[in-house]
Amino acid sequence: MDSIDLIKHAIKAQENSQSEYSNFPVGCALLCDNGTVIYGCNIESAVYPSTLCAERVAIYSALSQGFKGFKAIAIVSNNAAKPCGSCRQIIHEYLGNIPIYISDSKGEDYKIHYIKDLLPFPFG
Ligand code: THU
Repeated sequence: MDSIDLIKHAIKAQENSQSEYSNFPVGCALLCDNGTVIYGCNIESAVYPSTLCAERVAIYSALSQGFKGFKAIAIVSNNAAKPCGSCRQIIHEYLGNIPIYISDSKGEDYKIHYIKDLLPFPFG
């Protein structure tokens, strides 16, 4: 699966976003070593701190289903936002230095990032 295909999956995942408070839908698609694609979207709560980002929804879902090795992750939002600090930490700990495709919601223009650049001098 190439980067564009994974981004298309992330765009589909974004459609499931539960973001009625921020109106900022985020979608994520995580490519596992065996080719399985795990979706994540941000899920917000009336209790605001209970919100969880799309990236961590996808990563926690994959890990909880027993997937261990990962090839790439795609993240889409309306303005191609980069992952928050908490998600960077979890990406560092559980995904390692795999390509991170960050795109807007049209999938027309994307950039490849690596956690070594997004989270230099990490804890753990
Ligand atoms: N959000 C993500 O899903 N991923 C990030 O890396 C940053 C922020 C979500 C959380 C919240 O639902 C909305 O975007 C606004 O912060």
